[in-house]
Amino acid sequence: MQFDSDSSIPDAAIVRAIQLRGEINRANRLYYVENAPEFGDAEWDARMQELLALEQAHPELKTPDSPTQRVGAPPAAGFNEVVHPVPMLSLGNVFDEDGVRAWYKRALDFLELESAPMVCELKIDGLALAITYRNGVMERAATRGDGERGEDVTANVRTIRSVPLKLDGQADDIPPVIELRGEVFLPNSRFATLNAEREKTGLPAYVNPRNSASGSLRQLDSTETAKRPLDMFFYALGYIEGTDVPSSHWDTLQVINKWGGRTNDWTRKANSVEEVMAAIANAGEVRESLDYGIDGVVIKIDSLSLQSRLGFVGRDPRWAIAYKFPAEQAETTLKAIHVNVGRTGALTPWAELEPVMVGGVTIGRATLHNKDEIARKDFREGDRVIIQRAGDVIPQVVEVTSKNIRPADSQPYQFPDACPSCGAPTVHSEDEAVTRCVNTACPAQFERLLEHFASRGAMDIEGLGERVSQVLPRLGFVSNIADIYRLHDRREDLLELDKMGETRVDNLLNAIEASRTQPLSKLLFALGISSIGSESAEWLSHRFHSLTGLKEATEEELRAIDGIGPVVASTLVDYFTVEQNHQLIDDLIELGVNPIDDTPEPSADHPANGMTFVVTGRLEAMSRSEAQNRIKALGGKATGSVTKKTNFLVAGAEAGSKLDKAQRLDVHVINESEFIKFMDDGITPTRPESDV
Ligand code: IVH
Repeated sequence: MQFDSDSSIPDAAIVRAIQLRGEINRANRLYYVENAPEFGDAEWDARMQELLALEQAHPELKTPDSPTQRVGAPPAAGFNEVVHPVPMLSLGNVFDEDGVRAWYKRALDFLELESAPMVCELKIDGLALAITYRNGVMERAATRGDGERGEDVTANVRTIRSVPLKLDGQADDIPPVIELRGEVFLPNSRFATLNAEREKTGLPAYVNPRNSASGSLRQLDSTETAKRPLDMFFYALGYIEGTDVPSSHWDTLQVINKWGGRTNDWTRKANSVEEVMAAIANAGEVRESLDYGIDGVVIKIDSLSLQSRLGFVGRDPRWAIAYKFPAEQAETTLKAIHVNVGRTGALTPWAELEPVMVGGVTIGRATLHNKDEIARKDFREGDRVIIQRAGDVIPQVVEVTSKNIRPADSQPYQFPDACPSCGAPTVHSEDEAVTRCVNTACPAQFERLLEHFASRGAMDIEGLGERVSQVLPRLGFVSNIADIYRLHDRREDLLELDKMGETRVDNLLNAIEASRTQPLSKLLFALGISSIGSESAEWLSHRFHSLTGLKEATEEELRAIDGIGPVVASTLVDYFTVEQNHQLIDDLIELGVNPIDDTPEPSADHPANGMTFVVTGRLEAMSRSEAQNRIKALGGKATGSVTKKTNFLVAGAEAGSKLDKAQRLDVHVINESEFIKFMDDGITPTRPESDV
């Protein structure tokens, strides 16, 4: 994926994508890890749709770590982590017949076929599980987690009666290692009973069956899970050792069934979009009568060999699509309008609602998008409003139904013209439709930055989550990013904090120490520089190799990098012109947070291979030892003294006696930019005619 250097992506789109990613990631954690869906659910889905739309409009915005490329959340503490041998991916969504048609056409065009048989399945609203059987015996069950890594919930899954502990069949019918995948859920009929029991014992009720399934599966005490009537449908094979597997998805389901795995018997074949639409209509009809929640229909190309030819685009298979049922609406009271301040200072309004059930989920919050949206729709506190939620999608406030019965003194909502966190005046940008607090010292922004810095895709400091990221700055422990690396001197003070026992504090301090060895790309991403996603961070890391190198990069040098457009280049240069940022980088380096990127370039037959270099003088973009590392990584030799055998002398500023000697011995002298071109692009420097 390349970032077109003449990229026409508007700044607003970049800023919005970054903001959405941060918000979705935070909402994910709340939803999946902390089981608090009235937070996560609401924020998540509308933003996800918006982000998907943005990334679709500007594919250059897609980064591998965007939540659109991810499918869930990291494992909660308490379970062992499982790395999925075959990632558990997600599905693209469509919402109408045109969407189905477009998906099918794309698949057929890709395959250069006129038609391809499909299978339609109900999309079960539960949790994906992967269960591994070794020699037919259940060995391990894992949740999907973030798709790459999930949690080991074997003990709990053993308690689910519809999951075979041993597969039925002769040894030679069952591959030595086989992973069955499917969806675990709690039947609707059991949901009410379970909640009634919980309330009796003083436990909070689960908001929906899906959530109760997740809560039940993640009980640390599996005897608790055993009391919950979880159930499961299988719909796929994952990792397989041994070969004899069926050639179609349909046959796979039959085999799973034969082995004793429960499959859903609504599943049907379809040979055209019309047949798919008929199946979808039927699913809509039977939906109410089912004892489990479904949020749509999954359509899959039946042939497994066609599936493997179709492969994936990003995280979604080309060979399957999820048709999502239309949005469900409900009416409720908009109790209050609140405004959040994000990491980039954007003020995002959200509605606190009188909790209401919408499509099986209790909704207490919904997005209000931005200032303009509130004005356009004239949302006011106290209004009766329609809210809507489509399958996976975040609830939104659609419209006001009580305009005619508002009290006489009702006033339009006044969007704050000061930041709710720091009180600084806000700036509204019309084309971005964003109101922003531009105070770089805004505490709310800093708290979000801290959280981002520590997040998994960044410096991965476990224990520095949302709460601790608020507490530490508020209590004066941390007032800039570098302070994180000074915390080890304040262990005793940290122990005084509420809910910070010895284990927590030590785990936090250890995680901070461990983060020093995170690669440069992660650190660059972690700094939260606007428009630097994890991918551009990697390009920058490979090109400049160190914080020092990057700090001194010019806009021209930046723009010359494949993948770095003018926006990123100027944002970066601007970032380093701010005194505090400059200082921060210096502090980090001084504190030993100074990763060096010496990843060898992927070219095996680089022309530097086998050549001898001497590096002398002061280089701009890297230190001499970094330059030497790069030479070595490409198979060259970096020596200390110039001889006749030296192929190149790389001369930086104030090169002294070595330069003289090279000239005497007629060794080819190159400057830093020729050297970099040589290293980066494999362009062997040529000597000017007169020199030869
Ligand atoms: S197939 C690579 N089939 O939906 C695609 N998924 O949105 C693998 N789901 O992670 C998924 N019912 O948790 C598939 N019949 C079905 C499903 C189904 C529910 C869930 C599953 C998946 C998610 C993707």
